[in-house]
Amino acid sequence: VVTGLELHPLLRRGIEVRSRHVGIERPQALLRLVPENPEALLALGNRHVVSALQFDRELVVQLCRLAAGIEIQPALLHMPLTGKILITAFYEPSTRTRLSFESAWHRLGGDILSITDPATTGMAKGESLADVAEMFSNYSDVVVLRDRDAASVYSMLETLRVPIINAGNGIDEHPTQALADLYAIFKWRPDLATDTPGQPIRVGIIGNPAKMRTVRSLLHLLSMFAAVIEEVVVINGDDDVFGEGQRDALAQRGLRLRVEPGLRNNLPALDVVYINSIAWIGDTFERLTQAHRLTADSPFKPGAIVLHPLARGDELDVSLDDTAHNWYFSQARGATFVRMALLTSMVERVHRVADVRPPS
Ligand code: CP
Repeated sequence: VVTGLELHPLLRRGIEVRSRHVGIERPQALLRLVPENPEALLALGNRHVVSALQFDRELVVQLCRLAAGIEIQPALLHMPLTGKILITAFYEPSTRTRLSFESAWHRLGGDILSITDPATTGMAKGESLADVAEMFSNYSDVVVLRDRDAASVYSMLETLRVPIINAGNGIDEHPTQALADLYAIFKWRPDLATDTPGQPIRVGIIGNPAKMRTVRSLLHLLSMFAAVIEEVVVINGDDDVFGEGQRDALAQRGLRLRVEPGLRNNLPALDVVYINSIAWIGDTFERLTQAHRLTADSPFKPGAIVLHPLARGDELDVSLDDTAHNWYFSQARGATFVRMALLTSMVERVHRVADVRPPS
């Protein structure tokens, strides 16, 4: 509280804007190790992105490679989306997804129309999603939608004439979050994105694969990289944590899965620890319990990284922020670059960025 004419104590200390080392060495390593294949990105041209299952291994690797090129030298982009308009329609709260999509589009030179409350649109008067989508097609080049109802994005697909990106549909999927997750993993271990990977990794997922959309999409992508994943350990006290057919489908794609109740006894064997705070149940959500809490004192394997799609709750203690295990801030930051790569590909302007190279 500032009293009278006295400066706030923080200002008396002459505080500077906080900085965080972000470095370009890791995206540079990814660029160096993965050969460029822009042809793979052409497959995204004028396509909807609704499920992580639509991707394949090479497309994910090339999106991450392009994201790395953008992260290193964003000034080389020549504003490839100049003249294009994005609509972001977020009918459920968001900090990262909406703002990183909008940041990505702005950085690419495009313009944005943003809806954060359906009550300000014709939907408040009962307008159907199909009709809203018809209008979106008139006003924009790409739509990004978040909706509590898993079916909404599919309703819009019926009439949309521009590509739509699913930015979270109920408990179903959040495919671009999974891309950001993989981008973080590849920056940590670029060899995993190559044809000559090193040691396979053990991934822990603290959460619920049936009810957490980020986990559902991440598992789809991990299954495309099953060859470099020794095992995925789902840490959850419940017996039945997979949706109908989910576990079998993942296993058929080669992903080795194990469910374990305990966190502390499994943590020392995990290379990547993915934790999420919220499982949706109808219109509300439940959080992880204290038994699934990560702190700086948790028994991590040396060199292990922690990922979290955020927003965090008590399960991710702030004491972890200043440790080397904190890769969740890098994960959130990288989401902008991977979304820039995705958006550029979807509006068929890859040719304007495919020559992004690391400095010699
Ligand atoms: N990761 C993620 O979806 O965060 P937001 O809910 O803030 O968009």
